Order: sequence, then structure tokens, then C-alpha cells
Amino acid sequence: MLNTTTSVPLEHLLSAEKLDAIIVSTLVNVRYYTGFTGSNGLLLLTRSGATLFTDPRYATQAPQEVNCSVVVVVGPLLKKLAAKLKSLRKPRIGFEDSKVSFALYQGLSPLGELIPLGNAVEKPRWTKSAGEIAAIRASVNLNSLALEKAMKRFKVGMKEKDLAAEIDYQMRKMGAEGSAFETIIASGAHSALPHARPRGERIAEGGYLLIDMGACLNGYMSDMTRTFGVGRVSREAVRIYKAVLEAQQAAIEAIRPGKRAEQIHAAAMRVLKGHGLAELFIHSTGHGLGLEIHEAPRLGKGDKTELNSGMTITIEPGVYKPGFGGVRIEDTVLVTENGSEVLTPTPKGWTIVG
Ligand code: GLY
Ligand code: MN
Ligand code: MN
Repeated sequence: MLNTTTSVPLEHLLSAEKLDAIIVSTLVNVRYYTGFTGSNGLLLLTRSGATLFTDPRYATQAPQEVNCSVVVVVGPLLKKLAAKLKSLRKPRIGFEDSKVSFALYQGLSPLGELIPLGNAVEKPRWTKSAGEIAAIRASVNLNSLALEKAMKRFKVGMKEKDLAAEIDYQMRKMGAEGSAFETIIASGAHSALPHARPRGERIAEGGYLLIDMGACLNGYMSDMTRTFGVGRVSREAVRIYKAVLEAQQAAIEAIRPGKRAEQIHAAAMRVLKGHGLAELFIHSTGHGLGLEIHEAPRLGKGDKTELNSGMTITIEPGVYKPGFGGVRIEDTVLVTENGSEVLTPTPKGWTIVG
């Protein structure tokens, strides 16, 4: 959370759920609450304070990284954690029931009464702090610049894999830890696969070029899709593009605090229905993002989560016509007090490349 407070802001859960302890075992949540970025750790919160358990590989790193009042204990995690809880008689221990492995569950079971917390531990992550918004903005800007730089090297006939490598190289060169997910480059009919993987195929004239890319910068993700025409394309290709763009804009205009996630999806769907393309829109309109590329809420049918100011979400409707090609247009968007701010600076008018 780019935390500047002195304590782990989960104390309210201890009293609200009448707990003696909370164990945070999901690494991204451990990072959010403490700043620790290692690959092995458990966070224990009790009424007497917070303790981060990790292994000797992180003995130096962990105390340097923790940004709030957390005691770092190095050693066998579960053994050390059990020792710390020993003074409590039959403690009620809150845990991340939807994230814990069966093995960890078995390890935790003898320590006390395990109380499932649902999404209470990660829910604060849905709304970003000013520091987090700045970090996401920086990631989004780097991502857009990487596309701009990579497209300067684009030529018709380039292999999809080579364009993906160029994009990833540009991100890294500008300081990203890496890409937020495997960069998607899908050309021609292959663009009809929403999560296509880049192939050794050459990008040919006459079809779409779909690029879905994200950067990870200081732990925070960005996510953008652009679809271009390669040389001359059919009228149908342009028609579909314009319909998706209209749907994307309708969804963005629908965003405001208090709206439910599914209502944003409905706004995009309504437009595509009007163009006779609803059947070809086969995924949700977007998702939250932050320390993870896919976070709650899911902007799709059935998600009744209320949007609130400070959420960062994607808006990414798409139309996928098998054998023909697909269009997706995706921006990273901040929910603001009055509506929304599109963070992605990359233009999205219909563009021909090559
Ligand atoms: N590339 C994954 C997504 O856009 O959600
Ligand atoms: Mn996305
Ligand atoms: Mn994406």
C-alpha cells in the first residue's frame, strides 16, 4: 500500500470479529500491509503487535523493506509462529480461507480456532491510496511509452514473437521489473482468440493487429490493449472497431461512485447489442488492478460491487469473430469522485500501421 503509517491497518478486524490473531499468508497481501517483497513470509497480527515470519534468505532484506512497526522473525515459519501464539489459550485466529492451501490449513489447524475472513484482508486493496495511484499512473505511462517506442520498429512481415520481445525489452529498459503478464500479440484471424499467445507467424497486411500489454513498475501493474489495422482492411473490420470503441466510451461514461460493477458491463453490452455484436462479446468489461493484474471488482454480469473513488479498473470490451479477427480496446481507468479519469494516454482512434 506504499504504507506510511506505523501499524498494520487490520486492527479493526481483531475487534470486529472478536479475534485474538490474524494470519496473512497471501504474499501480495503481506506486501501490501508491510512492504516485504520476498517470496516466503507469513504475517501475524495480535493485540500486542505485528510479526513477519520469513526464512534466512530474507534476514537482511526483510527488516530493510518493512515500512511499519512489524517485528521480523527468521526461521521455520510455522514453528516460530506457533511459538509466538503459545501464550494464548485456544486463540480465535482469522485467516484467508479462500487463499490458503490445504497444507497450510493443516499446519495452522492445531494453533487455535480458525475463523474464515472471506475477502476482509484484501478488501482494503480495492481502493487505492494517493501513493498507489501515483505508482499505477507511472506504470501506465511507462507501458504506453513502451508501445510507442516498439511501434517505431514495427514493419509488416515482422513476427508476432519479435514484436512481443521488442515491447518487453522497452518496458525493462525504462525500469519496469517486467511485464504484468505475457504480452499478447495477435494478428489476422488469430486476434479472435482473446488470450492468444504470440506466435512465430509473420504479421500480414489486411487484418487486425491486437496488442495487449502491461508493465509491472515498483510492484504496480498497468494494462492496455490497442487494435490496429495492418495496411488496407475490409469495411467490416473498421465497422467492428468503431462499435467496440463506442462501447468502450459508453462504459467509461457510465463510471461513477455508487454504480455497481455489472452496470458498467451492461453499458458496454448495450452498445454492442445495438450493432448486432453482443454475441461476440464473450468476456467481462474489465477488472480491478493494482499490485495484481486481476483484482476485484470484476466488471461483469452478477458482480454487484459498488464502485468508489480511488478504485483503479480496466475498461476493455472486445468483439471476437472466429475466422475473421477480433478487436479489444482497453484502458486503465481511475474512479474519481465525479466520474472517472482515463489514465492511459495512448490514442485509440482507428489507426492503420505498416
Ligand atoms: N491481458 C489480460 C487482461 O487484459 O485482462
Ligand atoms: Mn485487462
Ligand atoms: Mn490487458
